[in-house]
Amino acid sequence: MDKSTIVCRCEEINIDEIETAIKNGAESFDDIKRLTRCGMGPCQSKVCFNPVSEIIADCTGKTLNEIGLPRFRMPLKMVRMSALAQESEDGSVVSVFGESVEDGESKNG
Ligand code: FES
Repeated sequence: MDKSTIVCRCEEINIDEIETAIKNGAESFDDIKRLTRCGMGPCQSKVCFNPVSEIIADCTGKTLNEIGLPRFRMPLKMVRMSALAQESEDGSVVSVFGESVEDGESKNG
């Protein structure tokens, strides 16, 4: 495969950038993520995790089990903002926890 082939479509990271990160010491998907932003796009590594893990395995000789899974953060799937916040009866915006989120601050109330 050509080194310019994009493996992370969201962040436009190609094979050459992944291999450079590995040469600079990356040994896991999370290491690659920190060095290149690969996996930080809207799909949150759902598309690029497998091909990047295979590149790590090829370059380091590790098995896919040794490479392991990336650290996932919430939410694990796309969530509509209306599921997280809504307009209250008095017209203010409140989170699902009933907190006011006016002026960008979360206030208990
Ligand atoms: S393809 Fe890598 S984060 Fe989406």
